[in-house]
Amino acid sequence: MKKDLLKLLDFSKEEILDFIDYGIELKREFKSGKKNNALAGKTIALVFEKSSTRTRVSFETGVAQLGGHPLYLSGSELQLGRGESIRDTARVLSRYVDGIMIRSFGQSRIEELAGYAAVPVINGLSNEYHPCQILADIMTVKEYKKNLEGLKVAFIGDGNNIANSYIVAALKLGMKFSIACPEGYEPLAEVLEFAGNNPDFNITRKPEEAAAGADVVLTDVYVSMGMESEKAERMKLFEGFKVDESLMALAKPGAIVQHCLPAHKGEEISEETFEKHAGEIFDEAENRLHVQKAVMARLF
Ligand code: CP
Ligand code: NVA
Repeated sequence: MKKDLLKLLDFSKEEILDFIDYGIELKREFKSGKKNNALAGKTIALVFEKSSTRTRVSFETGVAQLGGHPLYLSGSELQLGRGESIRDTARVLSRYVDGIMIRSFGQSRIEELAGYAAVPVINGLSNEYHPCQILADIMTVKEYKKNLEGLKVAFIGDGNNIANSYIVAALKLGMKFSIACPEGYEPLAEVLEFAGNNPDFNITRKPEEAAAGADVVLTDVYVSMGMESEKAERMKLFEGFKVDESLMALAKPGAIVQHCLPAHKGEEISEETFEKHAGEIFDEAENRLHVQKAVMARLF
């Protein structure tokens, strides 16, 4: 039976660790010049209904590096953009390709596509989740900190797709997660339900409380794709939810900073903190390539 990667809630600790460890192995192999042909003879459709730099380039490059053929499909250029249904699109693509990656709006749209597709589907970001990003993030944490268990992750800002996916993965892997967000911008109800009374999870209104003693400090934009109409309100509400040097002074010495990018410097992160941690942030971006190759090799 096919297995999709729609959200990390569907995966066990062992499966998540397997993606991450295989990503680390594929990165090592790739850097040593070793070829991997896991996708030889396979065509993978990459459907984008929202903008992308990293997801598009890392998936296209990743498919090519595994010997497959990536097919970039912009939602607005497909008949999808003229109203053809997601279910018919899923059934048509399944007759041609061996796997589908889709970036879209609601998670339910991606789940509908996966339900009608005969081939495995990977979520390349929805309003609710961004599983591939979080696999890359935790792969990067593992490279820097070696052991994941017991590490404290602090998330400062919107309880969005990044926060939702990170909370699920972190708690499954035995990490502590503290999120500082304004009232009304909490993570998804199903994520809060998953976290339950887990003592490793905490929500606060105070960035200082989340950052205290953190090993990893993470943030994301105030205004995610598709939420542009809320910009003025969000800019006001998120004031003070910023990763800067005064916040980093509360984290553990040697704490790393993560940002999925693109960043709005001066808003959710100061230019100074971004540049000080640019090595970690761009390693995180690079790891999208390797961990997604691991996911594709396993699922496709
Ligand atoms: N982090 C991330 O998914 O970046 P893109 O929006 O550029 O794909
Ligand atoms: N939360 C952001 C992540 C972008 C990679 C968004 O959804 O726009």
